[in-house]
Amino acid sequence: MKQAQMSLGAFLMSSGHHLAAWRHPRAWSGGGLDFQHFKKLTVSAERGKFDAIFFADNLALMGSPELGQYTTAGDVFDPLVLLSGLAAVTERIGLVSTVSTSYNEPYLLARKFASLDHLSGGRSGWNLVTSATDLEALNFGREQHFEHGDRYARAEEFIDVVTGLWDSYEDEAFVRDKASGVFFQPDKLHVLNHKGEHYRVRGPLNIPRTPQGYPVLIQAGSSEPGKALAARTAEVVFTAQQTLGNAQAFYADVKGRLAGYGRRPDQLKIMPGISPVIGRTQAEAEDKYQQLQDLVEPRVGLGLLAGMAGGFDLSGYDLDGPLPELPLSNSMQSRQALFIDLARRENLSIRQLYLKIAGARGHHTVIGTPKTIADTLEQWFVEQAADGFNIMPPFLPEGLDDFVEGVVPLLQQRGLFRQEYSGTTLREHLGLERPGNRYTR
Ligand SMILES: Cc1cc2nc3c(=O)[nH]c(=O)nc-3n(C[C@H](O)[C@H](O)[C@H](O)COP(=O)(O)O)c2cc1C
Repeated sequence: MKQAQMSLGAFLMSSGHHLAAWRHPRAWSGGGLDFQHFKKLTVSAERGKFDAIFFADNLALMGSPELGQYTTAGDVFDPLVLLSGLAAVTERIGLVSTVSTSYNEPYLLARKFASLDHLSGGRSGWNLVTSATDLEALNFGREQHFEHGDRYARAEEFIDVVTGLWDSYEDEAFVRDKASGVFFQPDKLHVLNHKGEHYRVRGPLNIPRTPQGYPVLIQAGSSEPGKALAARTAEVVFTAQQTLGNAQAFYADVKGRLAGYGRRPDQLKIMPGISPVIGRTQAEAEDKYQQLQDLVEPRVGLGLLAGMAGGFDLSGYDLDGPLPELPLSNSMQSRQALFIDLARRENLSIRQLYLKIAGARGHHTVIGTPKTIADTLEQWFVEQAADGFNIMPPFLPEGLDDFVEGVVPLLQQRGLFRQEYSGTTLREHLGLERPGNRYTR
């Protein structure tokens, strides 16, 4: 059954999502390492009753060093460290971060997210990604990134180890009984002893089971193995969808796979990204968008497209000619397919394509008044394209404040979004069950 109200995530980046956001006169270009900036954004999202804030992550300076100088890519916090700080200055809002399975150890990841879940009183969520680039591989002793299928196979095993570790202790294990001297009950401790194809992890963790049982499990790859992993394990899927029709097809596809794993459709929430460019009038919104577009340096725009379409060199092609045929990417396969589909469908030149994705890297952009934005969200939600949305403000802090002040009240008036938080954990906000410990019968 479809849920009655939508979920909202505030997908935050230092200056905003538009490639040229930091250059906008009203954007905060020093946002990357400004804790007060992130605190204000998070408090604003919490005032807007968002389910969660979300930080993406990469394990390299993204783009080439020559292009990096024109972007904010080299000015970012480790998101888990940032979220730990934000946990201390907020009460209700969920705290979600990407962490890669390809360049990590399950024990380390399980421990860190368990720590964040305890620290925040049950508000953490892990966006599982397999990483996308050779640039990241080069920082971890490899010349090339793992092959696409291989890294998803590793991710499948990785997540099983992580959830196994989170079950190291049953919920009531820690009695801390001063009289007997027993700190935890030994029969409620379980040693994982995992020996698999990719990982060997004994366990147990050295931290109790978390308030949410498991932090919320999120998955953000939309390729075939990505969807299979999501259908088996994820509770939220982040995805980029350009059109209502594509989003509906993706929604039906992923939801349709759940029964094969003994799961119900409502156990997984699908949240496409939407980038709202908001004005008091349509003309004001369009001006704002154009102002950002005019700030895109051609080589930076081309670099974004080339990088996200699979890391192929597009510099030899006529910018006003069509996108050439590209080999299948070993990077983000679903995003490459989206770009090719978009270019063909709208008959875009390379220049038009990079400009089209400069705002939100392939996510759907809506330009208009708060009402226009609310109408789009309502339509996608009601017409089975989404259970909620990751809101991607074009530049910050303005883009988030405009959404909280303009769009959220309209969604609330329409009964599509909560007026108040009813729970305290991210699971409760999202309407997800707390998983039981596998050893507790
Ligand atoms: C909302 C959203 C956020 C994402 N965040 C990250 C991220 O932080 N780091 C990353 O490496 N990939 C991120 N991705 C990309 C995917 O996780 C994945 O790497 C990519 O789509 C390749 O997977 P695929 O080949 O299964 O499509 C994100 C995707 C979406 C839709």
